[in-house]
Amino acid sequence: MADLSAHYLGLSLQSPIVVSSCPLCRNIDDMLRMEAAGAGAVILPSLFEEQLEIEDLNLQYYLAHDRGSLPDALKHIPEMSEYNKGADGYLSLLYRAQQALQIPVIASLNGTSTGGWVRYAKLLEAAGAAALELNVYYMPTTSNVTGAQIEQRYLDLVQQVVGTVAIPVSIKLSPYFSATAHMALKLVEAGADGLVLFNRFYQPDIDLDTEMVTPNLQLSDSAELRLRLRWVAMLYGQVKVDMAITGGVHSAEDALKSLLAGANVAMVASTLLRNGIPHIRTIIDGMNQWMDEREYDSIGRIRGKLSQRRVSNPSAYERANYMQVLQSYR
Ligand SMILES: Cc1cc2nc3c(=O)[nH]c(=O)nc-3n(C[C@H](O)[C@H](O)[C@H](O)COP(=O)(O)O)c2cc1C
Repeated sequence: MADLSAHYLGLSLQSPIVVSSCPLCRNIDDMLRMEAAGAGAVILPSLFEEQLEIEDLNLQYYLAHDRGSLPDALKHIPEMSEYNKGADGYLSLLYRAQQALQIPVIASLNGTSTGGWVRYAKLLEAAGAAALELNVYYMPTTSNVTGAQIEQRYLDLVQQVVGTVAIPVSIKLSPYFSATAHMALKLVEAGADGLVLFNRFYQPDIDLDTEMVTPNLQLSDSAELRLRLRWVAMLYGQVKVDMAITGGVHSAEDALKSLLAGANVAMVASTLLRNGIPHIRTIIDGMNQWMDEREYDSIGRIRGKLSQRRVSNPSAYERANYMQVLQSYR
């Protein structure tokens, strides 16, 4: 059987299948089941900048009990402690999880601006996080913000977080940069140890009955993988950094494609919400079978094999491919 051990963010993992930040990772028994099914690491749900700032201001009580007495600007911020247990509960969950599990437990911070809230990174490190994933879910909605300002915002935040902790820090990125490869390079220069490609942006829907804009979370499918494969394949070897694919990994085939493109690990969330935690084992068994059939004895043999640098037709990832694809439609 092939050796599926993997390396990510300086951590040695039993497999390259990592459970990404989602509600399944807020329960220790479930995380133990992930470990038993073969997961290489788990990432806790995010703690949010807004939430941490509110906690600092002692506004938590008003959010829960007396929202009406808050200024309008704060009323729209949802109460998140049911989702991630709030800062205290989160630190306790993290501490207990890393005590109970053999595999690394990665914490997740979600924010968009530098500020006092970033000191929570230090607390997450102290509670035993093996690494920190920083999710910069930034939605630039006003016309007076430039691309350069947005990029600088990312870089400042990364620099501040990296300067706060000694554990590895990965950045969960948006696919919407005008120069993704350059931005990846700048993030690495700012101190990022890993890039997680890509955030899924949940688009609100419009309900025709109520004539309201409604939040609506749809799980992914494998079609979303291709954007990630393309970028990981193009960045592999060009930017010296660990890479994870999140978004559209549902099967052994998807995970293998992620590694062939050049990812260190393939992350899963939707497929576990749909098929249950034991599906991790199905993915790993399928990977093993494929690797055995082709006599690949380790992940190192396949990682990056189909990256842009190593394929015989590098244009497959570029503009020429677009013209070819259009022509190939029957
Ligand atoms: C219900 C749900 C909750 C999620 N919560 C978080 C979160 O707290 N922080 C985060 O960075 N990503 C979060 N994600 C995004 C996932 O970590 C993952 O990046 C995304 O779902 C794409 O992977 P998938 O195609 O395997 O689902 C969440 C996803 C789902 C479905």
